[in-house]
Amino acid sequence: MTSPDIAQVQAALARVNDPEIKRPITELGMVERVDADDTGLVSVKVLLTVAGCPMRETITREVTAAVSNVQGVTAVNVELGVMSAEQRSGLQDTLRGGQAAREIPFAQPDSLTKVYAVASGKGGVGKSSVTVNLALAMAKQGLKVGIVDADIYGHSVPAMLGVADTRPTQVEDLIMPVPTPSGVSVISIGMLKPRRDQVVAWRGPMLDRALVQMLADVYWGDLDILFLDLPPGTGDVAISLGQHLPSAEVIVVTTPQEAAAEVAERAGTMASMMHQRVIGVVENMSFLPCPHCGVEHRLEIFGHGGGARVAATLGARFGYDVPMLGEIPIDISLREGGDSGKPIVESDPTSPGALVLTEIARGLSGRGRGLAGMQLGLSPTAKR
Ligand SMILES: Nc1ncnc2c1ncn2[C@@H]1O[C@H](COP(=O)(O)OP(=O)(O)OP(=O)(O)O)[C@@H](O)[C@H]1O
Ligand SMILES: [Mg+2]
Ligand SMILES: [Zn+2]
Repeated sequence: MTSPDIAQVQAALARVNDPEIKRPITELGMVERVDADDTGLVSVKVLLTVAGCPMRETITREVTAAVSNVQGVTAVNVELGVMSAEQRSGLQDTLRGGQAAREIPFAQPDSLTKVYAVASGKGGVGKSSVTVNLALAMAKQGLKVGIVDADIYGHSVPAMLGVADTRPTQVEDLIMPVPTPSGVSVISIGMLKPRRDQVVAWRGPMLDRALVQMLADVYWGDLDILFLDLPPGTGDVAISLGQHLPSAEVIVVTTPQEAAAEVAERAGTMASMMHQRVIGVVENMSFLPCPHCGVEHRLEIFGHGGGARVAATLGARFGYDVPMLGEIPIDISLREGGDSGKPIVESDPTSPGALVLTEIARGLSGRGRGLAGMQLGLSPTAKR
């Protein structure tokens, strides 16, 4: 018997991505050693970025599967080690790719990532549900999507994605976003503090630091779309965001019964002060589909037209068209999906709520990636 070809084993390993960094483990310096003997046994030593890496099982499984496919391999032995401080700082340099620390990649003029900030006038209108479902729907459409949960009062996004108790891995000063089974990566302001209840007390400068940390110190890789779940109303986070990421576009979520003027006032003031464009309004809990006739017969238990009034008020105020992006029905499986960590667009994709959310996501994807879909100002230097 001849031993398996090491070059072929290396090629197989090059197809295994680190689950958090989402790049080949061979490129990241994680494969320390590969041996093969003439019984067909291949031994691979993989260096994890940190000891106790939560992804160790996934990496072991994927390395084993990839190497098993190579011709002549009869058994695979994966040994795990940990990178030295020096190796980690080398990896950090590789990942930063020459970009200075504390620089927000999405704020660079050549950034192709679309940033959508999801805002609302008040809490509890379904902002986080809309955020995670739009993100998942876009990921299903093949886009690379990340979510920053910047809602200091809620930070419920990780739970909705089934990663409530996962802490992010850190490589030196670089934080890895938490991967979810659906392929969407997430960082929550709640993950940056040891105790969850601590965050609520944060004010101005601390919040600003946390926001910059989530944007600049997190290795997001090459994202198509970044969603930000903002705290309701105007506030410190919105002000920071306007300063650091003026190119973000705002999606306003409201319900039919909210006072249109008030929602438009709160969400709109934030956007206009920060020169961010409001690209549309999502009305949530718009109606209950009739149990007998379905979505054709809408039981409008919270009233009618709130979202359209918000859109019209914002449009009049800004002097540009602010469209309604969609009307999401009340859908029990939407709430269940949020509670169980399996958002509705994935767990129940044909439910009335999921269909509307998928449609809204399709509309957003259609706006194109990066500069192509952006409203550029008249002068090349103007933001818009
Ligand atoms: N269309 C809907 N149908 C049924 N339940 C919904 C719908 N939208 C949201 N919910 C439920 O309403 C509750 C509040 O939603 P969510 O947490 O998304 O709102 P939020 O605006 O982010 O709230 P918070 O201000 O607390 O962050 C959740 O239990 C969610 O599952
Ligand atoms: Mg929320
Ligand atoms: Zn009916």
